[in-house]
Amino acid sequence: MMDWTDRHCRYFHRLLSRQTLLHTEMVTAPALVRGGALHLLDFSPEEHPVVLQLGGSEPQELAEAARLGEQAGYDQVDLNCGCPSDRVQSGTFGAVLMKTPELVADCVAAMRAAVGIEVSVKCRIGVDDQEPREVLPRFVEKVAGAGCRKVTIHARKAWLQGLSPKENRDIPPLDYPLVVEMKRAFPELEISINGGIDSLEAAQALLEEGLDGVMIGRAAYHKPWEILAGADARIYGAAAEAKAPEDIARAMLPYIERHLAQGGRLHQITRHMLGLFAGRPGARGWRRVLSEEATRDGVGPELIEKALMRVTEAA
Ligand SMILES: Cc1cc2nc3c(=O)[nH]c(=O)nc-3n(C[C@H](O)[C@H](O)[C@H](O)COP(=O)(O)O)c2cc1C
Repeated sequence: MMDWTDRHCRYFHRLLSRQTLLHTEMVTAPALVRGGALHLLDFSPEEHPVVLQLGGSEPQELAEAARLGEQAGYDQVDLNCGCPSDRVQSGTFGAVLMKTPELVADCVAAMRAAVGIEVSVKCRIGVDDQEPREVLPRFVEKVAGAGCRKVTIHARKAWLQGLSPKENRDIPPLDYPLVVEMKRAFPELEISINGGIDSLEAAQALLEEGLDGVMIGRAAYHKPWEILAGADARIYGAAAEAKAPEDIARAMLPYIERHLAQGGRLHQITRHMLGLFAGRPGARGWRRVLSEEATRDGVGPELIEKALMRVTEAA
């Protein structure tokens, strides 16, 4: 998720969950290939398994970007066919690609030819006045024909005109049954569902309907302990009990220290940690200390202990 799942966020999320598959923000192929912005590929080895999400619509450029991603060590590359923002539309990528499945198939084929790692696609059920029950099966068939075996479907349309990107994540109605139908129609594909899933109970219910995966965006970011720490036991059947959120906070300290020693700022990391105690006593105090004080000059990792004190007091 743009501006959210940067490398610091992913490192934090990986401490919460060993098993879940983490995704980068969308990185555009032109930024990598034409702009040479290879720093966008930086990540920590602890983040594995991690997927690089690419934006683009030019097959050879995407192939080159995928190659750079594989070289950097990513486990999978994903092509974004779901983002409705204006900036992205102007570059002809994101959700507007739902209108040109042949072009998406060419992109997937070129990426597949360039790399040995998995190439996946994330899409919507349609855009604008498309009829999802007609266009989605055709879209999935095309990308599967080009060698894509993993598709994540955000179970709502995107409106390319008239709705903001934020509205496009909430207003178009969700159609989970259609995504379940896609799994039945394409049993050989790994089909994951996304959109509005905000608890592990909801995720489990969808898995029980036959889907292969559930992608959780905003809820995982805002309630990371509940969703991510819970997922290893509940979804993946891990035997070990989840670490307490206090332990996760302290486990971030060496990473924070390294970041500060390299000239980074505390809030670049702690801004992703604000929801760690969501729904638990002390959540507000924790959030307030970090959000108000982490941007101050010279503040260091001791702020974590100060914020944890608020949690202890509340408990
Ligand atoms: C701040 C923000 C940034 C996002 N950036 C991306 C992105 O880069 N690539 C992408 O495929 N989806 C992106 N999304 C959409 C989410 O991946 C997801 O499809 C959407 O939020 C619906 O899932 P949810 O209800 O679980 O959040 C973003 C969402 C948010 C809130």
